[in-house]
Amino acid sequence: LNCNVRRERSYILQVLFNGLRRLEYRGYDSAGVSIDASSVSLPPLVFRQEGNIESLVKSVYQEVDATDLNLEESFLTHAGIAHTRWATHGEPATRNSHPQTSGAENEFLVVHNGVVTNHEVLKQTLIRHGFTFESDTDTEVIPKLAKYVFDKFNEDSGDTVTFSQVVLEVMRRLEGAYALIFKSRHYPNELIACKRGSPLLLGVKELTEESSKGSLFHDDKYPSQNGNPRELFLSSDANALVEHTRKVLVIEDGEVVHLKDGGVSILKFDGDKGKHGVLSTPASVQRALSVLEMEVEQINKGNYEHYMQKEIHEQPESLTTTMRGRLIRGGTCKAKTVLLGGLKDHLKTIRRSRRIVFIGCGTSYNAALAARPILEELSGIPVTMEIASDLLDRQGPIYREDTAVFVSQSGETADTLNALEYALQNGALCVGITNTVGSAIARHTHCGVHINAGAEIGVASTKAYTSQIVVMAMLALAIGGDAISNQARREAIIDCLFDLPNKVREVLKLDQEMKDLAKLLIAEQSLLMFGRGYNYATALEGSLKVKEVALMHSEGILAGEMKHGPLALVDESLPIVVIATHDACFSKQQSVIQQLHARKGRLIVMCSRGDAAAVSLGGACRVIEVPQVEDCLQPVVNIVPLQLLAYHLTVLRGYNVDQPRNLAKSVTTE
Ligand code: G6P
Repeated sequence: LNCNVRRERSYILQVLFNGLRRLEYRGYDSAGVSIDASSVSLPPLVFRQEGNIESLVKSVYQEVDATDLNLEESFLTHAGIAHTRWATHGEPATRNSHPQTSGAENEFLVVHNGVVTNHEVLKQTLIRHGFTFESDTDTEVIPKLAKYVFDKFNEDSGDTVTFSQVVLEVMRRLEGAYALIFKSRHYPNELIACKRGSPLLLGVKELTEESSKGSLFHDDKYPSQNGNPRELFLSSDANALVEHTRKVLVIEDGEVVHLKDGGVSILKFDGDKGKHGVLSTPASVQRALSVLEMEVEQINKGNYEHYMQKEIHEQPESLTTTMRGRLIRGGTCKAKTVLLGGLKDHLKTIRRSRRIVFIGCGTSYNAALAARPILEELSGIPVTMEIASDLLDRQGPIYREDTAVFVSQSGETADTLNALEYALQNGALCVGITNTVGSAIARHTHCGVHINAGAEIGVASTKAYTSQIVVMAMLALAIGGDAISNQARREAIIDCLFDLPNKVREVLKLDQEMKDLAKLLIAEQSLLMFGRGYNYATALEGSLKVKEVALMHSEGILAGEMKHGPLALVDESLPIVVIATHDACFSKQQSVIQQLHARKGRLIVMCSRGDAAAVSLGGACRVIEVPQVEDCLQPVVNIVPLQLLAYHLTVLRGYNVDQPRNLAKSVTTE
């Protein structure tokens, strides 16, 4: 937060704490904040605490009480920073929390999202120059490097170095991924933000009407042109901004954003062109603000107890938004068809591609796997699957004739982004499927589709999964074109898409039944899920949900592989979910049920409504009946009871639903 309007310390702290609460889903093992002391001649105040945001808030107020820090004291201008951490280097501990500092006097303070890969080398160099380190983090080298650069410039030239110059010089020496905000005792009321790889947004809140017209930033001009009261916000994502402003700027890699007394100027980092120790003057940048299409209600829990619960239950609505304006049926245009505006100029190229490669991680990978069969069927193009990190580990072949489809809820997952860079270098046409407008995947792909599922806060992805599948089914329809041979199939899918939100509404009625099932499974060590065809992905995704939130071992198994290993695990105690809804694989799944039953397996079978008698083996298996839809969209319906099961298991087992142990929503480091 940087503002040029009189604000009390209590207000500044509240803004920072609320911002952290909005970002907590990104990381939650320790937190910290830095605000100004009463006078610029004093070092900025820093508070840090292991644990969640509320532990930090508590510790700050305890310190306020103990030290008589005046919360009513007000500032004409102010610059404060805060951070919530998800440990990568160094265990969760107060000393490893951010802001990290240059030393006792807090000359430079830094909050960081990302990983500095050359931190060891930098640390050794700084130690040789007399610095001592207190944390185990990679981040600590950054403020110390800033102090080193600052001291060196002052020593060498005697001139006053600007804050931007210090940061540019620090950036020159950093390798890895980062979004950084610097605060410094030497530059009161100023903040510098910069990034490479990790996401960063600037939000501008004008406090008077007429001044809101100015929407261009220009080095030095914007601030002086109008000194109107303004609050500026920097954040890793829009959730922390939307309650203050919708006017945002997505900061690009290499940009250095200088906030001073409510004014903004942006410089472009000129890479490694400058020599160490020589000040260069990079070009200033003009950028237009964009407007966030997001409502504050989206990021509130409403009447639900947890975000995951809310997001599971809002799937009929999120699916409707995903499809809005994209499905056409009847009217003047008689044919049933799909319109994906973001792809229209590239469909021909996609149709000509030699293969389509789906690339993603976690739930997004599973969604692509669920959509793979329909894409193959309607397009006739071979579709291969890549987990982003594995593609990079193997440096797997990607060709100019490939269409690479990047699936990512956040649009910021580091592995997926690195794979995108790799595919771009190899000349593939790159398509993005993401939930986050303005995200790195949205910006760096050639074309794409937003899933428009609305903000997803629960770490375990639910509504984004079903919206991703629907978008990829629409992608298959769009690529498949209007071939007569599959017209009936296409139209059946489109009809089914129209009705899908209703079917999901129906399946949500299984909530209590899934809670009862969860009660039965509460003490289990493990839960297997068998699926095949369209629903292999459902087995993987269902077990991923159970694993990540309920902290219970669970494995999704391709039923066709049952005899090649998994059968050895089957006994009368291990619970097994078999997904056997009605599609081309149904009879094979019936045979799987028979074989598991013959080994005394403890079975829970998911089947289409009306099939219970055909799968329950005379009541030997517990049955979950779901509405039947077109086979390729059945994964959207089938996952819902498993999401509910995972949710209830988590609550009953007493674990944190929205912030599962050791996991983060958006993994912006490799
Ligand atoms: C993390 C999250 C998962 C998510 C995965 C991919 O692991 O915990 O829920 O599926 O990242 O994220 P993305 O934003 O790329 O879909």
